[in-house]
Amino acid sequence: MGSSCRSGCGKSTVIQLLQRFYDVTHGKVCLDGVDIRDLNIHWLRSQFSLANQEPILFDMTIAENIAYGKVNPSLEDIIEAATKANIHQFVISLPQGYETRVGAKGSHLSGGQKQRIVIA
Ligand SMILES: Nc1ncnc2c1ncn2[C@@H]1O[C@H](COP(=O)(O)OP(=O)(O)OP(=O)(O)O)[C@@H](O)[C@H]1O
Ligand SMILES: [Mg+2]
Repeated sequence: MGSSCRSGCGKSTVIQLLQRFYDVTHGKVCLDGVDIRDLNIHWLRSQFSLANQEPILFDMTIAENIAYGKVNPSLEDIIEAATKANIHQFVISLPQGYETRVGAKGSHLSGGQKQRIVIA
């Protein structure tokens, strides 16, 4: 949803409904025309990724944090994800590159840098 969506307009609510943290009491939520209550909940949740406003990273390397999003990713997968999230150039500018440790909860990075790594 774009920046024109005001605070309190329902973004978090829509995401929580889509993830089925709770269900609607009236009407239905559909994905490609199918009521999400008729879908396998694990499959449904695997279809979404969410980068929230205060992302938390693990106290590991940048590569390990990005790799967490996929089973057995290759280095090419990690670089591709970082490039799409527009953080690759920043990462390779660091002395230790993808092997840089992000610190506790990602404290060595700015908010925007953390968010891009979470998106990747
Ligand atoms: N548990 C609840 N019970 C009743 N009303 C709620 C509940 N949670 C949120 N609301 C209301 O629903 C509306 C949408 O809230 P929501 O958290 O989805 O907004 P949002 O778009 O994510 O806002 P923000 O941009 O500030 O994060 C708000 O007006 C809020 O007051
Ligand atoms: Mg919100």
